[in-house]
Amino acid sequence: MRLVILGATGQVGWQLVQQAPPGAEVIPVARQGTAVTLDLEDLEAIPRLLKMLRPDVVINAAAYTAVDQAEREPQRAQRINGTAVGLLAETMATVGGLLIHYSTDYVFAGNQSLPYRETDATAPLNAYGYSKWLGEQAIARQQPAHLILRTSWVYDLRGKNFLRTMVRLAQTRPVVRVVADQIGTPTAAPFLAQVTYQLLERWLAAPSLSGLYHLTPRGSTSWYGFAAKIFEHLRARGYSTAALEAIPSHEYPTPAKRPAFSVLNCEKLEAVLGAPLPPWEVILEPLLMQLDPQSVL
Ligand SMILES: NC(=O)c1ccc[n+]([C@@H]2O[C@H](COP(=O)([O-])OP(=O)(O)OC[C@H]3O[C@@H](n4cnc5c(N)ncnc54)[C@H](OP(=O)(O)O)[C@@H]3O)[C@@H](O)[C@H]2O)c1
Repeated sequence: MRLVILGATGQVGWQLVQQAPPGAEVIPVARQGTAVTLDLEDLEAIPRLLKMLRPDVVINAAAYTAVDQAEREPQRAQRINGTAVGLLAETMATVGGLLIHYSTDYVFAGNQSLPYRETDATAPLNAYGYSKWLGEQAIARQQPAHLILRTSWVYDLRGKNFLRTMVRLAQTRPVVRVVADQIGTPTAAPFLAQVTYQLLERWLAAPSLSGLYHLTPRGSTSWYGFAAKIFEHLRARGYSTAALEAIPSHEYPTPAKRPAFSVLNCEKLEAVLGAPLPPWEVILEPLLMQLDPQSVL
């Protein structure tokens, strides 16, 4: 199996490269730093590269992910998360391989009180969410063999993410104020890569499993709740931490509006995997055990 991983230097892409199935011919692709490079803004390069590589599977973990910055450059976000994804889908429909693509909980408005199912109506609140929604729509239009995996609140021990920011602030600030009225599910990149490959294995046996899936651990929390777990862990290891304060979103204004509730119902995926997904805390804890708190300073 020839497996092309786009966004190979990002949080999820990097884990996908590390965990690639033994025996697969893996081609990591990033904007720079890999033997094969691709800038998704270079739209003509997309079909050219894929027609040359002829992959059996493309996993697209590349995206414009700067949620607040997207408000200032929505066109660029749409080009990378929408138009480029459409070209990936069109080319894979032509060359005949599987496209695995990630999308986001931010396609939802967040005014529901029950976890969102794949069939629930989308209504993105911000430019990033809209651009990712365009990507989903483009794949649905082109209909290559595909798995679209919507996930949320991605973190890892590497990369730019909430976990690392909190570990740094906990050690460098007297007080850290974190919003407590946005509810979602933290998802570790290593877990996301692992489940992606489990689903790929199922798909290889049954390509009729193509479609849209929600993929996060079970359970939910607020950003404050997520931060509290991190702080608790640091203190348990003997580090002194900042005081943690819960605040409402309006006290932490950001350019992009975010959904108040974006928990994803993952039962469709659990049915395919034949097992419940673990709670988010169970995924977080072993990852924190591997953390060197000083490495983020
Ligand atoms: N992070 C989250 O909280 C979150 C939540 C829900 C869904 N998702 C989705 O999950 C997927 C993976 O996200 P992530 O957290 O791994 O993001 P990430 O760490 O920001 O990685 C994104 C990668 O995309 C690459 N990229 C950006 N623009 C590009 C372009 N024009 N051409 C080629 N590559 C480009 C970046 O390359 P450079 O390093 O060169 O910039 C980076 O390696 C994305 O589809 C994202 O939308 C993420």
